[in-house]
Formats: sequence, structure tokens, C-alpha cells
Amino acid sequence: MDKKVTTRTVMSMKDGDKIVMLTAFDYPSALYSERAGAEIILVGDSLGQVVLGYESTVPVTMDEMLHHTRAASRGCSRALLVADMPFGSYQAGPQQAMENAARFLKEAGAESVKIEGGVSMAETIEFLTRRSVPVMGHIGLLPQSVHQMGGYRIQGRGDEGLRILLDDARAVVESGAYAMVVEGVPAEAARLVTESVSIPTIGIGAGPHCDGQVLVYNDLLGIYDRFVPKFVKRYGELGAATEKALRQFTREVKEGVFPDEEHSYE
Ligand code: KIV
Repeated sequence: MDKKVTTRTVMSMKDGDKIVMLTAFDYPSALYSERAGAEIILVGDSLGQVVLGYESTVPVTMDEMLHHTRAASRGCSRALLVADMPFGSYQAGPQQAMENAARFLKEAGAESVKIEGGVSMAETIEFLTRRSVPVMGHIGLLPQSVHQMGGYRIQGRGDEGLRILLDDARAVVESGAYAMVVEGVPAEAARLVTESVSIPTIGIGAGPHCDGQVLVYNDLLGIYDRFVPKFVKRYGELGAATEKALRQFTREVKEGVFPDEEHSYE
């Protein structure tokens, strides 16, 4: 095994090698992501859409996240394992956030948690980081705020949008986070954020200038196609390949072709 990736490793990659983060939701997706060389495996609450079939990430529960984080942890030994705190598990305040974050670390094998929000979450991030919970921030487009935003809207546009984004980035750093996701912002805005902060930025829908990149496993493999955002590059068509294989199995069973002698015992 290559050297274990820790939050310190991630911090040391600022302005160095690009950081690769992949979302994974279970044992095989974590295993393949790690084998492919990802430094960070995020059990994202995108789980809600791409695995559980919800319309958004809002309904995802702590129990669902714990269950999938445990599964991913069994496929992850070298990469840093980060668990996304689901909507409603930390917004009530630092105490609630601490109780739920501790569950990810104690019960599910996570080594860090991710929290959406900048200035509005600064107190909570600081509370956690001062109590030995490493926090990855998340600024820009915040999927858990979809109802408040009135849809998934690109953030950081215009002078005011950029000011809010930079304020959020600064708040995340000052609160003690070791890295932050920057989602759904113009490439130039992400560049300004990346240059203005001392910790690594990991972009999604944020152009090429961040210190690292993340995509959702099911998106990049073409397994989830209910909605494909502009920033998703599909590196495989596993959804189509899966359907093709399952259709062939169905046909062969119906036609009595499977099982043949090769796949039967004497
Ligand atoms: O839930 C998720 O997968 C995420 C990433 C897109 C950053 O938050």
C-alpha cells in the first residue's frame, strides 16, 4: 500500500500535485476509486440522488449516510475517507454537529466530515475542528440549499457574488478547515478563491484552477443519467453496458441458452 493519505497530506498538496477526490457509496466503488489512485474518497450526500433515487440531497438521513460510509470504509485503506453531513444533521448548531460528526468517526470509519456553508457555518466548523473533528468546507453552489436558492444556480457571479464567495472561503479557512469544495462557480471565480486561501480547493463545476477535482462516481461512469450537468465528463457508459448485459442474460434464460454445460455441475 502506498502511504496513507491524511488531512496533513491533503494540506501539503496545496499548489502541488492535483488532488483527486471521488465520491463513493459502497465497498466496490470505494475499492475501485482507491485502486485508481484517488487521494480522497467522499461518501457524498449525492447518494440521495444517484443511489437512493431521491429528487435532491435534502431527504438523506444520518442513518443512510452512516450505513453507506461503513460500506465504503471497508473498501478504503489508503485514501482519506470523508463523510458528508446530511441536511438537518448540523444546521441546528455546533452541539448537534458535534454529536453527529462524532458518529461518523466512531461508528463508520470516517476520518473527516464535510459541511456545506461558509460564513453561516463558521462557528460550527470552528467548534468541530477545535474538538478533533477534521472538517472539509463546501462553498459556492450548496445542493442542500436547493429550495432556498430556487434551483441549482451558479454562484460567485458579478461583484456581489464574488464578494460573498471570497468571504465564505475566508471564513472556512479561519474556522480551521483543512480543505474546501468549491462547487458551481465560474472558472475565474474559483481561480481567485484558490489563490486567496492557504488550504486546498477541490472543484466541481468550478473550472480547472482549483487544487483538486471531484466528480460523482455514478456520473462519471455513466450510471446515473436522470440529470447530467454541463461539468460532468463521462469516462464510461456503465449504465448502458449494464443494461446490455442484463438483457442478454434475460434472453438466454428465456431461450434456454443459459445455463449451458460449461456453467453446470456434473
Ligand atoms: O455529495 C456530493 O457528492 C458532494 C460532491 C459533489 C462534492 O458534495
